[in-house]
Amino acid sequence: MNFCGALVCTMLSGGMLSIHLFNRLRRVRAFVFPLLLPSLLVLLLPVSVQAAYVDKADLTGDLIVELASDPAQDFVIQRDALYDMGVKTEAVYIPYLKKTIQCTVLPLAAILDAYPEFDAAFAYCYDGYMSYYTSEFIAEYDPYVVLDLEGNERGDMQLEGTPDMGPFYITFAKQLTAGSEEILDPANKRPFGVYKLKLGSQESLVGPLFEAPFDTMDANAQAGREIWMNNCMSCHSWDPVGPGGNLSNRIVKIVSMHAKYNKQYFHDFVKDPQVTMPDSKMPKHPHYSDETIEQIRQFLTHVPN
Ligand code: HEC
Repeated sequence: MNFCGALVCTMLSGGMLSIHLFNRLRRVRAFVFPLLLPSLLVLLLPVSVQAAYVDKADLTGDLIVELASDPAQDFVIQRDALYDMGVKTEAVYIPYLKKTIQCTVLPLAAILDAYPEFDAAFAYCYDGYMSYYTSEFIAEYDPYVVLDLEGNERGDMQLEGTPDMGPFYITFAKQLTAGSEEILDPANKRPFGVYKLKLGSQESLVGPLFEAPFDTMDANAQAGREIWMNNCMSCHSWDPVGPGGNLSNRIVKIVSMHAKYNKQYFHDFVKDPQVTMPDSKMPKHPHYSDETIEQIRQFLTHVPN
């Protein structure tokens, strides 16, 4: 078939598709499927690149590092090389076990020190979760990357009674409970399954949350943004280019719709998602006051529709 023939054929099938799609889908399907399949694959490609989670089996156990200044230039620090960057032995509290064990740890600062122009990091986990570390948090709490758990083989980060915490677990020495005065959600700074760090300036990492229309918010909405960045952002992505994890399929636009038009539902869902959705993967926030939830809601009302 020459080019024109192919073109006519495509036009015809396109016409057939629109005429029949809704009322005759079944009969048409066999005809259009061969044409649809390649275009569907093309459409699906970017989606699969940004998959919500990474298959743990595809990870090597080394640490991927991405620089915000040049995201195309991912590089990998091999696990063995991390041991040469200033590790120490530290007693690490493992909340899943309610127990402290000796671990080999590498301060996050030791990795960031190589890049004086950067003062913040995102840690990405294989299940789609991510955590945000600022220079202020790092200076105050000295978070560290756990490389090894006492008694386990190198890189084996699973203890009985814990999730598989590898390739890396990040934590910090101080014990805080959820809702503490210092950090509302300390668990957010203790992600397991970390496989990638993205280093950058705070501006390059969370800049979109500070640009218009978020640059003229009142103090309440600004406080809400702070909570968003230190909790909600870990799971809810800021589609299409802003910062956020990928554990939830509710992108910020959907979350903000509830904030704008569904105030009570938003409040109740944040407080205890399982009341509305018994199998919800979102954690409860019993430690959030009504004022705190209202601050987050205020922030989200600024998200453009
Ligand atoms: C550990 C991950 C996680 C965190 C942290 C998290 N969420 Fe969610 N959220 C989810 C998931 C997953 C869903 C999708 C529905 C489900 O499984 O519960 C969701 C759904 C929602 C919904 C939509 C419910 C609906 O009906 O569509 C809202 C609103 C929401 N989250 C707000 C928040 C706010 C505000 C915060 C921060 C205080 C937050 N979430 C923190 C995981 C999370």
